Amino acid sequence: MDHFFNPKSVAIVGASTKQGKIGYDILKNILQYSYSGAVYPVNPRTDTILGQKAFPDLLSIPDPIDLVIVSVPPPRVLDVIRQCKEKDVDSVVVITAGFKEVGGAGSHLEEELVKEIKEAGIRLIGPNCLGIIDTASFLNASFAAGMPLAGHIGFFSQSGALCVAILDWALGENIGFSKFISLGNKADITEIDLIRAMADDENTRVILGYLESIEDGHTFMNVAQSVSKKKPIIMIKSGTTSAGAKAASSHTGALAGSNTAYNAAFKQCGIVHAHSIQELFVYATAFASQPLPKGPRVAIVTNSGGPGIIAADACDLSDLELPSIKKESVERLRSFLPPTASFYNPIDIIGDATSERYKKTLEVILADDLIDAVLILLTPTAAIDIVETAEAIVALAKNTDKPIITSFMGERKVRPGRKIFQDNGIPTFGYPEEAVAALNAMFRYRQWLNQPEKEFVRVEVAIPKVRQIFASVTEQKRSDLIEIEAREVLEAYNFTLSKNILVNTTKKAVSAASEIGYPVVMKIASPDVLHKSDMGGVRAGLENERMVEEAFFDITSNIRQRLPNARIMGISVQEMVRGGREVILGISNDIQFGPMIMFGLGGIYVEVLKDVAFRIVPVSVEDADAMIREIRSFPLLRGVRGEPAADLLAIRKSILALSQMALDFPEIIEADINPLVVRPEGKGAVAVDARFTVQE
Ligand code: COA
Repeated sequence: MDHFFNPKSVAIVGASTKQGKIGYDILKNILQYSYSGAVYPVNPRTDTILGQKAFPDLLSIPDPIDLVIVSVPPPRVLDVIRQCKEKDVDSVVVITAGFKEVGGAGSHLEEELVKEIKEAGIRLIGPNCLGIIDTASFLNASFAAGMPLAGHIGFFSQSGALCVAILDWALGENIGFSKFISLGNKADITEIDLIRAMADDENTRVILGYLESIEDGHTFMNVAQSVSKKKPIIMIKSGTTSAGAKAASSHTGALAGSNTAYNAAFKQCGIVHAHSIQELFVYATAFASQPLPKGPRVAIVTNSGGPGIIAADACDLSDLELPSIKKESVERLRSFLPPTASFYNPIDIIGDATSERYKKTLEVILADDLIDAVLILLTPTAAIDIVETAEAIVALAKNTDKPIITSFMGERKVRPGRKIFQDNGIPTFGYPEEAVAALNAMFRYRQWLNQPEKEFVRVEVAIPKVRQIFASVTEQKRSDLIEIEAREVLEAYNFTLSKNILVNTTKKAVSAASEIGYPVVMKIASPDVLHKSDMGGVRAGLENERMVEEAFFDITSNIRQRLPNARIMGISVQEMVRGGREVILGISNDIQFGPMIMFGLGGIYVEVLKDVAFRIVPVSVEDADAMIREIRSFPLLRGVRGEPAADLLAIRKSILALSQMALDFPEIIEADINPLVVRPEGKGAVAVDARFTVQE
């Protein structure tokens, strides 16, 4: 993509003579920020614009053109592209709006645009974009107001408006950028191309992106995963993809909300996920200027108790730790801090602290090898010299490989201190919680980097058997499997199932129950009864012959009454599985990312509690373990109050088996195993109930 970012020559088709027009602003931006390549305005109605010779069309330009910026009304764009083809131009930015984003004729025009550029071998950014900026080549081919400072953040955005806002913020905060790209409609070049390009760009240390959609989920994940190992990708995703969730009939489908797949994909790729614009700024500032912490151990240095406690609370809710500092460090601090100071984390150097006290304390803390990162809080007391303190922190930050994040709280008095930090690349935030969030994101990214290579396993399974079941279901014009079929599918993938015997008479039910052992559960087996409990098709806790006989009668009469046309294949007499934790596993499908696996705490309240984790298929061993640890009720699985831990390896095995199944059989639209009863460590797990929806 070199011609986009470092072109030797740029033509602006639609460069305007009239101030205030987009074509005028783009040309002005290219001319005023020291771009050193050749610039060719193209406009048939004039000979010069802004002192530059103008050409009536691209073909009249005698020299080769590396990059063309198009800012003519929509009906003229295709003609300009044809000229680009004739002139052997390979890189084009189309600013013009009025394409896919307006629908109808606009969508059609975009299709033609894509066809033209593909035929011509042209790469295109846009249409409907603000343009592009590269600070290394001083190229500002956009109509944004201003030029960002040179820096290490490579930014792309699907929203032009957000580009403008971020640019203004960055100028106000002295934040520098390497590249600044408005993606527009992504008719050709997408976030995937830009992530790839920025991975290889030595001026870019952090990749920052705002996305509304991702079209090719799998390529995105592959690229993002490998680039994340080189440099951090910080991403915010807005908008929803609710299709799929609406039609869900399983728990898993219902729990897969609009952004579930994105959340899962970002986790799996090591993308630092910002959930608000504010977080995006906070993370960008911290990642671009500070080294990553080697571990989670943070020291808070503060001149006031309250903010120190607030920061400590925020650390407590994060993955960070607030350890005690070394004994020797405490001794050193005692030698110069007043006895009323707090020598334990948070280290409170109290209200009359001077800049000298901050400096000496920081020297001790930065030298302490039990500490990985330092958070410096300050409230503007009468005793403190803000500028001196900020300068002392800047000087110390130059000689340490530990990240330093600051929060000088207040506004008017602390402003000069913040300015010093901004000028010297020390992240500074108005509130301690933001500072903690930044450090936490950096630590989590470090953890992701430290992870071993992901391990994907495949086990021996009975694929033909499952294929045959699915084929027979679709042949019968059904999409839902009945329980017996679902059980066979699970068995083929090595799940352990509760004991089950299908019977069609009361007598057989009684003998099945005594063979299985009391208590038992009885369920209707019918392809036409999906919500078995709701229809009176399930009886649990049956302790003896009499109860089994009654249940047989009740279930059959309930179904005959409520669903007279239902085909009844019999009644399943099942072992009543007890003595374990009920979890749920499932498969659902996302339009962009394909099948996903869900894991969570099971039982009847699953949709209320929503304590579930999702990952995109294929799920690695590490992903499976992370899913298990991610749910809020993980402590219950690990064992509380002397209870034995649940068999976590059995859960991992089940997640991986389901992931393998989703990969083998894309025809599975949704599936639930609910519950999977997980027994104590080493004793395995039993699938009690399952449902599958397939599509030919
Ligand atoms: N080749 C070269 N120049 C041409 C041309 C052609 N084929 N056709 C027209 N021009 C010239 C015009 O003469 C005019 O110059 P002038 O002002 O000196 O007369 C200039 O190109 C612009 O054409 P004009 O017809 O005046 O259009 P415009 O400036 O009003 O609008 C766009 C053009 C592209 C800005 C407009 O169609 C548009 O899309 N605006 C929205 C852009 C946007 O919001 N993008 C997304 C941002 S996130």
